[in-house]
Amino acid sequence: MIRVEHLYKSFQGQKVLEDINLEVKKGELLVVLGESGTGKSVLLKHLAGLLKPDRGSVRIDGKDITGMPERELLRVRKDIGYLFQEGALYDFMNVFENIAFPLREHTALDGKAIRGKVQDILKLIGLQGIEEKYPAELSGGMKKRVALARAVILGSKILFCDEPTSGLDPLRSRDISELIRGVAGKLHCTTVVTSHDISNSFRIADRIALLQDGRVVAIGTPSEIRASRNVFVQEFIA
Ligand SMILES: Nc1ncnc2c1ncn2[C@@H]1O[C@H](COP(=O)(O)OP(=O)(O)OP(=O)(O)O)[C@@H](O)[C@H]1O
Ligand SMILES: [Mg+2]
Repeated sequence: MIRVEHLYKSFQGQKVLEDINLEVKKGELLVVLGESGTGKSVLLKHLAGLLKPDRGSVRIDGKDITGMPERELLRVRKDIGYLFQEGALYDFMNVFENIAFPLREHTALDGKAIRGKVQDILKLIGLQGIEEKYPAELSGGMKKRVALARAVILGSKILFCDEPTSGLDPLRSRDISELIRGVAGKLHCTTVVTSHDISNSFRIADRIALLQDGRVVAIGTPSEIRASRNVFVQEFIA
């Protein structure tokens, strides 16, 4: 489904990604786990074609997106739900308008159909009755939920979530992690989540890729990662 080969990226001479190789299988949930600043967000942006690598390829369904013209890339991106690290809700729109926004931008659905879809997704996310609220009136956990609703409203088959638990307390972190797992399962998404939250990563991942200094130092199922003899892996998950 998604295949990354020999991906390199530097910013002003600073190496951020160094020979990243990994594959995300159809319908699987991969967590890219690593410390702050190791390149998780930069990697995720490459997977969505938001950044261009210096070298290497990103294939989605066999198509290399790294050299694609912007017009074609827009079509690819339409099929990707992206939950940004900062949530990125529009402050001047209420919850309903935020979630409906991709439908208004990318579909020809009428008002009634849009209302129906937003209601369905709010039910799926467990957030009914807050349509009229503005982002400033929501807790951090609710904002993440609304951003997740917006990320999946178009029914994309690919879902990227960048640090969905950052800034949340342990309970809320667990909730949003399990919600992502549940929603991705129900919508049959191929999902990549970045995180530095070890316990929740092990809880929801089909596989984990451990990133360190822009390299994948280990990749495997949670039990394979736990059993790894790599010293860095053992120290990281200890
Ligand atoms: N657009 C950019 N221009 C220059 N440097 C960048 C850019 N984006 C990221 N970087 C640098 O790349 C490195 C990796 O950043 P990245 O945001 O991917 O880290 P991260 O693993 O997501 O960290 P965190 O866990 O804090 O979100 C950092 O040193 C960052 O300063
Ligand atoms: Mg990040």
